[in-house]
Amino acid sequence: MLGVSLCVSMFSTLVFLLRAGALVAAVAIPSDPLAGITESDGLLDARAALTAFSLPVKGDVVRALSISTTRAGFTYGPDPAGTSIYYPSGALGTARTTSDVAQFEVDATAHLARVESDTALAAATITAAGGLKSLKDYEMLYTGQWQTSIGNLMVPGMLQNYTLDSMFSMERLSSNPYSIRRLNPRKDTLPFLVNNNLVVKLTKTTLSGLFSAGRLFLVDYSYLTKYTPTSGRYSAACSAYFYIDPTTRDFLPLAIKTNVGSNLTYTPLDTPNDWLLAKMMFNENDLWYQAWYHFASTHYVAGLSLTAATRCMSPNHPILALLNRLNVQGYAFQEIAELLLLSPGTFIDQNFVFSGADAGKDTNDLYYKTAGAFQANYFHTQFTARGLINTTYGPALKYSPFVEDAEVIHASMQKFMTTFVNSYYTSPSTITGDAELQCWITEAVPAKILDFPSAPIKQTQTLIDMLTHIAFLVSVQHHTMNTNDPATLTGVLPFHPAALYAPIPTTKGVKDILPFLPSASQAINQISLLAQFSRPEYQSTAKSLTNMFNDPTLLAGFNAASVTAAQVFRTEMTAFSGVVSSRRFDATGYNRGMPYLWRGLDPQVIPFYAAI
Ligand SMILES: *[C@@H]1O[C@H](CO)[C@@H](O)[C@H](O)[C@H]1NC(C)=O
Ligand SMILES: *[C@@H]1O[C@H](CO)[C@@H](O)[C@H](O)[C@H]1NC(C)=O
Ligand SMILES: *[C@@H]1O[C@H](CO)[C@@H](O)[C@H](O)[C@H]1NC(C)=O
Ligand SMILES: [Fe+2]
Repeated sequence: MLGVSLCVSMFSTLVFLLRAGALVAAVAIPSDPLAGITESDGLLDARAALTAFSLPVKGDVVRALSISTTRAGFTYGPDPAGTSIYYPSGALGTARTTSDVAQFEVDATAHLARVESDTALAAATITAAGGLKSLKDYEMLYTGQWQTSIGNLMVPGMLQNYTLDSMFSMERLSSNPYSIRRLNPRKDTLPFLVNNNLVVKLTKTTLSGLFSAGRLFLVDYSYLTKYTPTSGRYSAACSAYFYIDPTTRDFLPLAIKTNVGSNLTYTPLDTPNDWLLAKMMFNENDLWYQAWYHFASTHYVAGLSLTAATRCMSPNHPILALLNRLNVQGYAFQEIAELLLLSPGTFIDQNFVFSGADAGKDTNDLYYKTAGAFQANYFHTQFTARGLINTTYGPALKYSPFVEDAEVIHASMQKFMTTFVNSYYTSPSTITGDAELQCWITEAVPAKILDFPSAPIKQTQTLIDMLTHIAFLVSVQHHTMNTNDPATLTGVLPFHPAALYAPIPTTKGVKDILPFLPSASQAINQISLLAQFSRPEYQSTAKSLTNMFNDPTLLAGFNAASVTAAQVFRTEMTAFSGVVSSRRFDATGYNRGMPYLWRGLDPQVIPFYAAI
């Protein structure tokens, strides 16, 4: 088990570097990053809002001057993570990003200590057991392990039920709902064919029968052929069909095509080994995609919106005060990603099939292709566009766990924002007359925010939708794909390898899946990395989603209606946490069609901000 201790020591070295302040040095934090920053700069949430928030009044020269000072010092610069998306620059911009990183580092270092001791324990357990000799042995990697870094967030059923097709398919509707779409018979064409004898055997109808009835769904990772796997690691670039069964209405997988080598197409009618390996090949692609789609679609979009707002509004403006709250540590992740994930030799190079440099490229591409669009990615708009809700061309899904839970939170956010916005903007002229607000909308152009509403905005509803979206991005959307999700669901072994270690088969009939999977040391490294993203310690604390608006700074600055709305939000989220946390398996071992207990959107568990 030399491998384990070597890799663990490499991991510890990184932990040590982080502790020893290499992180601090690498991002050049000055001795006192806050020196020279005063409350009126509004860069530090804790120091802002000593007075009530207010809309600008014409002729307030002091306020206007303070904004132009901020504007001069908070400018657009290059992204440390290497994308072509803007990142704050200038003296004030750098002070803010530096402060975010420093705050993040405090939390991350505390969590790393947990990961470090859990990693040592897991390594010792596997060494004592003589390594991983069967698929079943991977359970040892989890059972009784990661007690402090993942803790009670382990998802019941993930280790026991992963060979069930319903786990593979229902993951598309719970823990990773951001890549699947329903094919539209009026607009789409079938991207690949499947032997119809097999389709009829599985579904009692043909592929085109499913397609024309609006029952066929696609996840397409074929674009991943453009990346070259790291030496000794292997990847397909899977596209997969899922379908709503015409008889049972169950949502199930139909076929997986590899798009590499001899381009095999697998179905549930293949041997159990072949079909399981096909799903693992898909999951390797899925884990990769989700990591970078999460980065592009949440961190960048929320961050850029804040940058534009900071250049236009006083920190005493209720909208900027709210955006500052939603973006706690909001600029940290780009710097951390570069330092620990993307730069040569760091975690992505060590664990994933493609390189950290490819991850940066993919993030950039996804941003411009789909993830960066602001309005097009509003919850209802995006899920309608992918045929998951309000479908006009096929039957409704029997279970849709993500949509069901996200809808509750989204509705509460929208309710808060409605009161908040309407309490500050009491007539149409207050919104058109708010020069700071309109500046934010105009600023989207030089900020290069994609698909922002166009200036001027005239309706309070436009603003309500914008703010609801940002709140949703940093919480629901972020944590569905990241935070606790990778370690407990989308990256759980052996079903979800970050890399495969044997060549993609060119013929069917694989005898042994083990050679494809991460070895004991590689598995521990993968779990260890993903556990760094978990935050069990935030449950039921001031950091949980229940407290999104329950913040002394906000409550001190808010008008009475907004204070009440913040309390209502907290009450509703606490009640919803009761619903989510009491979910159990039914008598047949399922919960809402899932053979695992997905409780990924518990508002007492997930943070209110994009925590990592
Ligand atoms: C695999 O098949 C699809 C069509 O079904 C095709 O578009 C793709 O180019 C093929 N890839 C390879 C590597 O043969
Ligand atoms: C679509 O579906 C959601 C719930 O799934 C609902 O709240 C919403 O109002 C529907 N309509 C539109 C136009 O989005
Ligand atoms: C899934 O796993 C859980 C926990 O082991 C078990 O209680 C449940 O019965 C399983 N579900 C199915 C459908 O086998
Ligand atoms: Fe994140």
